[in-house]
Amino acid sequence: MNKLKILVTGGAGFIGSNFLNLFVPSSPDHYFINLDKLTYAANLLNLEQVSSLSNYTFLQADLADYQSVEHIFSKYEPDLVIHFAAESHVDRSILGPADFIYSNIIGTFNLLEGCRKHWMTEENTNQKLFLHVSTDEVYGSLGEEGLFTEETAYDPSSPYSASKAASDHLVRAYHRTYGLPAIITNCSNNYGPYQFPEKLIPLMILNALAEKPLPVYGKGENIRDWLYVEDHCCAIWTVIGKGKPGETYNIGGNSELKNLNLVHLLCENLAEENGKNPDHYRKLIEFVPDRPGHDLRYAIDNSKIKRELGWQPQEDFSKGLRKTIRWYLDNPDWVEIVQSGAYKKWIDENYSKRGAVK
Ligand SMILES: NC(=O)c1ccc[n+]([C@@H]2O[C@H](COP(=O)([O-])OP(=O)(O)OC[C@H]3O[C@@H](n4cnc5c(N)ncnc54)[C@H](O)[C@@H]3O)[C@@H](O)[C@H]2O)c1
Repeated sequence: MNKLKILVTGGAGFIGSNFLNLFVPSSPDHYFINLDKLTYAANLLNLEQVSSLSNYTFLQADLADYQSVEHIFSKYEPDLVIHFAAESHVDRSILGPADFIYSNIIGTFNLLEGCRKHWMTEENTNQKLFLHVSTDEVYGSLGEEGLFTEETAYDPSSPYSASKAASDHLVRAYHRTYGLPAIITNCSNNYGPYQFPEKLIPLMILNALAEKPLPVYGKGENIRDWLYVEDHCCAIWTVIGKGKPGETYNIGGNSELKNLNLVHLLCENLAEENGKNPDHYRKLIEFVPDRPGHDLRYAIDNSKIKRELGWQPQEDFSKGLRKTIRWYLDNPDWVEIVQSGAYKKWIDENYSKRGAVK
């Protein structure tokens, strides 16, 4: 029997590497091709446990270069595309949006063109699927009430979310215009192992451990709906198996929290782990000028994926947070490598310009 060939883009990033670590070892009947540009956010160390398996291969390529995409489609003839690859950090998109346009919009367009040219010539495209991994940030900001549903109108605020919204529109257009079998998932904030420490949770953990300031935007009032990364990966696996082409599924963890409360919780957990008083870490909190266009609140209504596909998040937020903290404490080598070089330069440039608001 031929193996199902799955092209995973961005598999060396945070969510992609968690996905591959979960499903490559447990799916010997599937062949996984990981296409990644290896930007600053990628780390092949994340994939040590799968890199030597016979149903896995890695290819370094830039999705913004169509020739590379075409070559990979001709050589590997994937049946399924799971599209994680993107520039993903909102702050970086504010400082320099160009990479977000190339990777997130042109990159997605090139991938869709690869699928159209290689899949849509066949009589039967039933065995093909393009799964586009997107974000709840495309819906803009909620007030104090309400939840994002799959029908919520798009209203992106940052260059990042605008580039993801553009890529979602292209995916829907390819489904409607060419009949490309495609599904979009829009997910809330993920946390867990292997997350690059420019994002809120690992940034706070590692700064606290290094006794550095914990920079909180504005008054820390912004609310995010947290989802453990393995729950997200299982949702994607469920959508691949049971989802309907042309549909959108919102994925969220029902764990809303104000940023400041989250930072306090991290301080308390770290204090317990290290036998210190929580104030030891809390005193490091510094309020910094708010991010321009900062959305107040995101919260997902995940009833459609629960009802139609039978998925629901398994991880309790406080346990998932503790596991995440333990992972960073147990992996100092990983931390040291990602905190060197280009990463450090960017963090220095970004945060030295802000200055703390007392
Ligand atoms: N992290 C979250 O909380 C979250 C929430 C909702 C949706 N998403 C979406 O999930 C996807 C994965 O997010 P993540 O947090 O793992 O991101 P990440 O930044 O950790 O990883 C992105 C990966 O994509 C690769 N990449 C970037 N540009 C590329 C290009 N032009 N060609 C090939 N590879 C390229 C990078 O090298 C990196 O390995 C993204 O599409 C993101 O928008 C993330």
